Amino acid sequence: MGKSFGFGLIGAGMISQMHAEVVNRLPNAHLAAVTAVPFEAARSFATRNGGDACQDVRALLSHPDVEVVVLGTPSGLHPEQAVAAAQAGKHVLIEKPIGVSLAGADAAIAAAKQAGVKLGVVSQRRFDPPCRAIKQALERGEFGRCVLINGFVKYYREPSYYSSSNWRGTWALDGGGALINQGIHTVDLVRWMGGPVKSVTGFARTLSHDIEVEDTASAAIEFESGALGCIQSTTSASPGLHISVEVLGDKGSAILKDSDIVFWKTETSDCAPSQEGPKTGSGSRDPMAFSASGHAAQFEDFLKAIAENREPLVTGQDGRDTLELVLAVYEASRSGRVVHLPL
Ligand SMILES: NC(=O)c1ccc[n+]([C@@H]2O[C@H](COP(=O)([O-])OP(=O)(O)OC[C@H]3O[C@@H](n4cnc5c(N)ncnc54)[C@H](O)[C@@H]3O)[C@@H](O)[C@H]2O)c1
Repeated sequence: MGKSFGFGLIGAGMISQMHAEVVNRLPNAHLAAVTAVPFEAARSFATRNGGDACQDVRALLSHPDVEVVVLGTPSGLHPEQAVAAAQAGKHVLIEKPIGVSLAGADAAIAAAKQAGVKLGVVSQRRFDPPCRAIKQALERGEFGRCVLINGFVKYYREPSYYSSSNWRGTWALDGGGALINQGIHTVDLVRWMGGPVKSVTGFARTLSHDIEVEDTASAAIEFESGALGCIQSTTSASPGLHISVEVLGDKGSAILKDSDIVFWKTETSDCAPSQEGPKTGSGSRDPMAFSASGHAAQFEDFLKAIAENREPLVTGQDGRDTLELVLAVYEASRSGRVVHLPL
């Protein structure tokens, strides 16, 4: 029998349920413990999924079998919980976003570095075979000079999605709305594919929900490479459509729709390279209507990173870069100005 990593989950909500299912399917992992507020939620979660229910974060972090902590809590709590996990000597995988402020992100990254533990940020779409195919073609220069890299998230969320939660749609704990929560995966893909961003302008508005944060955002960006791009994200597009990412260059272009490449043409190929493997899909109307395949691939990579003592494929810095781009759009919207990065 090889090593089995003990996982401690902080949070017992929607995404933690997926985390438990992923951990329980991995051959080299097991669910050791869970904590949530109220404790009763952790107890029923442990009954369903296994592991010990812990009274609070401190108890979970001192559980002797917990080696890897996964944060599935409201986004504004991520940095302080990541710092506590790192200081307890645990590797920590943080659900997106890494936090809601750059100061929080920096504190989490610094704590992991100081403790010598691995820190990763969930961005499961980077593990989708079609996204990797586009990224690899970009690295080979197959699209030539990239001129536009665009990302669109045309989702719908019922009013009850916000009203039934004490944290969604709040500045303090969600950090914003459609862009930082639903849009961040696509922002991450655009940033990953297009590279560092030089400047941003845009608007974030609350158009159809009774919430304090935006339900619709639209931004124009300029990459350091000189390419331009556009990011839009909404939770107000009924009935809930799709996400898409467009990479357009002077030697070829590709368009991703949800988890499928729907257009691909370069000077050497009229069809996308084979994209074997399971795909994530899209939560265009139902927040959890996507598959666990991306999470499974990312959890596997995270364990390999620990075993091989290397950085995971999505690092804390990656999570920070994506958060910085989101925050730049908010700043541009507030100030009505072009915002230059780094912030
Ligand atoms: N990767 C993805 O596609 C994806 C999808 C959904 C959610 N998320 C992210 O996961 C996080 C959680 O989202 P969710 O939809 O599961 O939320 P949720 O409201 O369903 O669950 C939040 C959980 O956090 C627990 N919690 C709250 N305060 C706590 C505290 N102080 N200590 C311990 N536990 C506490 C609650 O008990 C609850 O179980 C968010 O950051 C969200 O952005 C990521």
